[in-house]
Amino acid sequence: MDDQLKNIAEQAKIDLKECLNQNDILNIRAKYLGKKSLVNSLYSQLRNLPEEERPSFGKKVNELRNELERMIDEKEKELKLQIVNAYDSVQANDLTLPGVYFPPGSLHPLTIIRRKMEDIFISLGFQIAEGPDIEDEYHNFDALNTPEDHPSRNLADTFYLDNGYLLRTQTSTVQVRTMESYPPPIYIISPGRCYRNDKPDPSHSPVFHQVEGLVVDKGISMADLKDTLQFFAKAMFGPEVKSRIRPHFFPFTEPSAEMDISCVSCQGKGCRICKNSGWLELAGAGMVDPSVLEMMGIDDQIYNGYAFGIGIERIAMLKYNIPDMRILYENDVRMLRQFSRELI
Ligand code: PHE
Repeated sequence: MDDQLKNIAEQAKIDLKECLNQNDILNIRAKYLGKKSLVNSLYSQLRNLPEEERPSFGKKVNELRNELERMIDEKEKELKLQIVNAYDSVQANDLTLPGVYFPPGSLHPLTIIRRKMEDIFISLGFQIAEGPDIEDEYHNFDALNTPEDHPSRNLADTFYLDNGYLLRTQTSTVQVRTMESYPPPIYIISPGRCYRNDKPDPSHSPVFHQVEGLVVDKGISMADLKDTLQFFAKAMFGPEVKSRIRPHFFPFTEPSAEMDISCVSCQGKGCRICKNSGWLELAGAGMVDPSVLEMMGIDDQIYNGYAFGIGIERIAMLKYNIPDMRILYENDVRMLRQFSRELI
């Protein structure tokens, strides 16, 4: 009797293995568990058994029935899953289905402007130099002729790190690093990120971007500086743009100047953007202070040069009519999407 039960279980396993679809499952269910099934015929055999053997045999038949049910259910589940998977893979390869549209990304306006600036200066023969964002006081201040008591060295203006380093407040650090490593003639620009302890407002951000320029060569004059900046302004904003330089002060240039361009919004007539002056401040600049050259071991009797620093945000805001600097860092796709055609 026990052998008979075992055989039924074995046979069911073989049948299930060969089972290919839902129809096969129905047939197997009928064969093993239906009215005229093998299991049911076992129940009818119960009557022919001696009284004392009936309970234990009945229990075994119940167990067999449960086991068969479990096996058949499991196979049925497996077959259903196969069908779903097969359907999915057919779907994936169905080339007639409509495609999924991935909108092209766009360059950030600051990246577009940085690249434009790089292109303009490269066309003049400048090379691009880079330096670290985390700097030491020497490269950010001392080598740039900035005395200990200069206000920009104040804790309130500069982010100092615990290890004695700081986040560079200007890309002028790369002037120093370039002069340390290369002999003149030097014609470099250095685009990069700067950090100052400023509260964010429409024209300030604790992180912003500058392009520094440095020229060291023989017989360089303020006229070269002015001409270079003027060329840059016209290339960036159009040939009608006028420029001027005004005296200013920076510790590492002498004389120092600030460069203005005629307002790109009102063409110099006076408006809200230029605060009715007709001019917009664009760059800090000046002739490299001979004491900086001396610190770098460059003979200031033979060489001189100029330097300038231009804010990338400022240019982007003027060029794209962006009223608040913070918009540049929010990365709202509605703003970014407007630049998707400007692929440079
Ligand atoms: N580094 C100066 C600033 O951040 C700008 C500058 C650069 C001025 C080079 C002169 C020469 O304000």
